[in-house]
Amino acid sequence: MQKKKLPKIGFLYLDYVLRFFDYSNFKGWPDKIETVTYHWKNDKVRFINEVRRKNIDVLIGNIPATAYETFKEIATALPNVRFIPSIETQFSNKSKENVTLFCEKYNLQAPQTFISYDEKEVDEYFKNCSYPQIIKRSYGPSNYGGYYVHKVDTYKEATQLLEEKKYKPVYSQDAIALKDSGDIRVMLIGHKPVCAFWRYSGEGEWITNTSQGGSMSYENVPMNALELAVKASKAAKAEYWACDIAIDEHTLEPYILECATAFAAFPYIRDWIGQYIMWDLSGGRFRLPHVPLFSWEELGKMSPSVLRTLRHLYFARYEPSCDGAYWLADKEGFDMELTETSNIEDIPESIEPPLSEDQLPEVVKGEDIQEPSEFEHHKMYVLENISLTELMTLPGMDEEIAVKIKEFIESENITSFEALDEYDFASNQQISQWAKFFKK
Ligand SMILES: Nc1ncnc2c1ncn2[C@@H]1O[C@H](COP(=O)(O)OP(=O)(O)O)[C@@H](O)[C@H]1O
Ligand SMILES: [Mg+2]
Repeated sequence: MQKKKLPKIGFLYLDYVLRFFDYSNFKGWPDKIETVTYHWKNDKVRFINEVRRKNIDVLIGNIPATAYETFKEIATALPNVRFIPSIETQFSNKSKENVTLFCEKYNLQAPQTFISYDEKEVDEYFKNCSYPQIIKRSYGPSNYGGYYVHKVDTYKEATQLLEEKKYKPVYSQDAIALKDSGDIRVMLIGHKPVCAFWRYSGEGEWITNTSQGGSMSYENVPMNALELAVKASKAAKAEYWACDIAIDEHTLEPYILECATAFAAFPYIRDWIGQYIMWDLSGGRFRLPHVPLFSWEELGKMSPSVLRTLRHLYFARYEPSCDGAYWLADKEGFDMELTETSNIEDIPESIEPPLSEDQLPEVVKGEDIQEPSEFEHHKMYVLENISLTELMTLPGMDEEIAVKIKEFIESENITSFEALDEYDFASNQQISQWAKFFKK
């Protein structure tokens, strides 16, 4: 019997953006995998032509917030190319505003949120709302470790903060009384939770951020948080997905704080995603990864430095004939599934800023020409003085790596950021990328 031809895969890369996938995550794929790199600044036509020339059927990779509008156009010009995740699925990656619109459209429980570009409306809102409120910068890559997230307790604090920060739109939501001063990250593949953990805030902090003295735990993630994450993943039709969920300490109800296809994940999780995608694209010729529910509780007992080096984890299916631990038996309702095909109606309607184009702040114009503003206008740091929160603003930084870097800066005699190259906690590509943000 002749095997069906596999589609031609390409990785979607962007200059300056850390790569979520590479060949090693697609172990066993028999054909050549192409790469296509978007170079920013009017690179649309060249990019489209390269995809066509290479006969790519499937483009795999995350699109950062600043490139979202551009890639909507690129995808339209390539109607026969499947994007994984789809452009529609990546709607929530663009901004917190989009996350809110997504949750509203699909009835996913999220904190009551106010979004407005209108000063009068904003003033009215903060006069009448309940406090505390959480005010956030809406636009841009999420998971900046709370750098653009602020708690205000009074009208006066709110107006002072907005005066200083000038965020547009104003994005503010009811503060959830966080159960155990924590929130939960759930990662899903094919709508099945494959990893979940609590992140707790540090002493005297309200924000859950391990770089501010917080900690994490893979234990006791409640079922209703997993269920809400699954519902969001299905609504987004996401091949892979992450949700940050707060549990209200009074009602124990779960609320979505953030959700996206872009998130930090250990390599073994990216291997599972690669395997899942190969299963999807091969019509089942490749094995669907089997990831027992709550296996994260067991894996989480290993140190992060070990987890960071684990690759290609394989779980066999549970055999009822042997004495399996309880967690090995899968619960009902959490199967790994094929995602539905996205279409344009999946995208919620956006809130139009009521300003003329030239009045808009740079970041909401949605032009093709911009590099991520974070890279263009990013503050330059001095190595010895950088704080953990500032380290977290570097593109693609992850909390554990930031803590490591901070430790190295403090304890070793390191004179330049590039010198960190010698140590084994980040790739050379990452180090040279981040080094650009330090004064020489
Ligand atoms: N509505 C809210 N109620 C309570 N805590 C919140 C709320 N929104 C955010 N937080 C806290 O602030 C942290 C950072 O907010 P988040 O929206 O995740 O922004 P980012 O990760 O982009 O900095 C969350 O992990 C959570 O601890
Ligand atoms: Mg977050």
